[in-house]
Amino acid sequence: MAILKLRKYGDPILRKKAEEIKVIDEEIKNLASDMLATVKSIGGIGLAGNQVGVAKRIFVIDRTHIDGEEEPIILINPELVEFSGNQVIEEGCLSAPGIYEDVTRAQKVRVRALNLEGKKVEIEGERLLSRALLHEIDHLNGVLFIDHLSTIKRKLLGKKLRKISTGG
Ligand code: NI
Repeated sequence: MAILKLRKYGDPILRKKAEEIKVIDEEIKNLASDMLATVKSIGGIGLAGNQVGVAKRIFVIDRTHIDGEEEPIILINPELVEFSGNQVIEEGCLSAPGIYEDVTRAQKVRVRALNLEGKKVEIEGERLLSRALLHEIDHLNGVLFIDHLSTIKRKLLGKKLRKISTGG
């Protein structure tokens, strides 16, 4: 297992729509375990392919920080199939360190995907898990949580964001 290098705000790969994974081979399985090791090493909640420089549709979520569940979520080619309700909840992102803002998200979601064995799975998430699932799906579509903020809020963050994108 390896700890992967995190891509930060300003890196174009974060704005790329990640590609569907056609074959779940050893490379993908190794990537998943490296991503999990990486997110755990920083105490983060989730990590999407783009964030470690691989624009493929895969993300991992360390559930221990969400509901104490030890078994991580590793989803391939995830699709949002149902969402309901609203919640305003604070978010952060490993690719935008130091920035935490309230974001409006669906309160409950259902996501369809493949697991590492290539089996179809469906995961339901509420509150924190809903937020995490939506945040990671966004990443795979090149969307960052700050995109959900108002123009004024984003402007106020301009200096911080510039600092991150220039490696400061
Ligand atoms: Ni993120």
